[in-house]
Amino acid sequence: MVEGCAVVTAPRLVCPYHAWTYALDGRLTGLPRADTFPGLDKSEHGLKRLPTHEAGGLIWFSFDESADFGEAETLARDFEAFDLAGQHLFRRRTHDVRANWKLIMDAFLEGYHIQRLHAGTIAPFFKDGVSTADAIGPHQRSAVGREAGHAALSSSDWATLRSAITYTYQMFPGTVLVVSPDYINLMVLMPQAADRVLVEDFMLIPQASATEKALAHWERGWELLDGGAFAGEDFRACELGQQGLASGSLDRLTLGTLERGIRSFHDAVDRALTPRTG
Ligand SMILES: [Fe+2]
Repeated sequence: MVEGCAVVTAPRLVCPYHAWTYALDGRLTGLPRADTFPGLDKSEHGLKRLPTHEAGGLIWFSFDESADFGEAETLARDFEAFDLAGQHLFRRRTHDVRANWKLIMDAFLEGYHIQRLHAGTIAPFFKDGVSTADAIGPHQRSAVGREAGHAALSSSDWATLRSAITYTYQMFPGTVLVVSPDYINLMVLMPQAADRVLVEDFMLIPQASATEKALAHWERGWELLDGGAFAGEDFRACELGQQGLASGSLDRLTLGTLERGIRSFHDAVDRALTPRTG
């Protein structure tokens, strides 16, 4: 109904196959040759409605019709503290990554690789292996210690805390939020095949850039994370990991104590894929 990842502004949704036409609320409003569907009640043929919920600046949805979004509300309290809903969109870009989507999640569930893979970009901003994490249902939340951290941790001021800690959220199944000192990256994973995922990266800033200097500052942040650490390093490592896994030669993967989030995530995937009984 809506192809591609570009922003679309349209008064209605038109299926390209037979041109059945739907209003934006999902009602079927028209179909060609309606005479060939005698007795069809349009009100019974709208688009499928999924449970949705707006919280913390995000729209949550579930394919599970009994979803209650209680965990989304818990996470939303954090997002309200970051004023996620009040942020300004600075840039967005969709990356086409030749890797399984779970490898992308893995890359944002451990800080073990920061000093190694990211040695040329963000490693100098972080301490090695200083992080903690917890789980909210199937979602995870982690705090990663930054180099500027030690003096700031007794502060209750958000700007100071954000200079000391990078907060990351791994929302199940495929959304990542990275809260840097003065901007936020939101990544939405859209699996296309077992070995291919589109990752849409949104960089959010507190307000629209008013000056050339501010613009240059945000541009550096965008280049550092989206172009450098994410595309040039994380996503590249995921693609190489995919090639290694696809070779079929690996009989095990070994995780250290800094990588427990990966185990939790894959356990949650297994639970979500296990048919419910009763
Ligand atoms: Fe990374």
